[in-house]
Amino acid sequence: MAFGHLLPPPPARRRGIPLYYDKSENEVRADVYERYDELVTRQTALHLADHLHGGYPFQPLLNYVLQHLPLTTQLAVADVGCSVGRLAAELAQRNAAWDVYGVDLSYQMLRQGNDYWVRGENLRPNLIRYGWSTPDLAGQKLANLHFALAKGEQLPFADASLDVVLNTFLIDRLAVPFSAFQEWARVLKPGGTLLTVSPLNFLQPAGWRQAHPPVKILEHLKDRNWELRDWTDPLTLFEPMDVRGNGVNWQCVAFAVRKKG
Ligand SMILES: C[S@@+](CC[C@H](N)C(=O)[O-])C[C@H]1O[C@@H](n2cnc3c(N)ncnc32)[C@H](O)[C@@H]1O
Repeated sequence: MAFGHLLPPPPARRRGIPLYYDKSENEVRADVYERYDELVTRQTALHLADHLHGGYPFQPLLNYVLQHLPLTTQLAVADVGCSVGRLAAELAQRNAAWDVYGVDLSYQMLRQGNDYWVRGENLRPNLIRYGWSTPDLAGQKLANLHFALAKGEQLPFADASLDVVLNTFLIDRLAVPFSAFQEWARVLKPGGTLLTVSPLNFLQPAGWRQAHPPVKILEHLKDRNWELRDWTDPLTLFEPMDVRGNGVNWQCVAFAVRKKG
């Protein structure tokens, strides 16, 4: 199996997924995405079961990414915090010559994504408690999509090796939201694109202090060799929670910046 731009060799693999970060027992215990099967199931319902919602609920998110993607014949892209891999798979499907990576810190998310998008396995998530029963989801075999377990702040890519880094609903999950920008600049080629979409619904006070109001993010980027291409606020996304139509309305900030050459 080719892993293109991923730095070989991974210290370990599990079910075909290279593991670049060795989580301690405490880290696994503290990671809600590892602990609760329910979060994986909810991400599966949101990203892989369009027919339940009459379409992909996060279509505006996908549209934003597509709108700001450089449309070159060769493209190396990483979706950081990819969860079950929908956005990464959308890109991989658009152009077989593109090399697409889905990176996440949760093995449980990656397993679901890898089983579905790469191994072509069918899924039957249990969505009974949301009123959706157990839909049959038919897997696919995308040869140009690769999943890897790693920290978004410590990626398994060489310096200046990627054209695009994207992250959605991630920076407000990080202990120090700005800590990842430097790492993303490292792996991007000069002129490469960073796409970020986040509701800025920080988990920790440090996040609110660092990045609220969002103009602080703009100032941070401006001071650090990024060129602003787009700033959209809000990009509104609706996350359905159940068959009745309950859900969460996310007011996201979306931005595209270019690493200066
Ligand atoms: C709220 S989910 C968002 C998933 C997806 N990108 C979306 O837009 O719906 C956050 C994801 O980021 C992952 N994650 C959290 N902290 C991370 C980190 N430091 N590095 C990489 N992934 C991380 C989680 O495991 C989870 O899959």
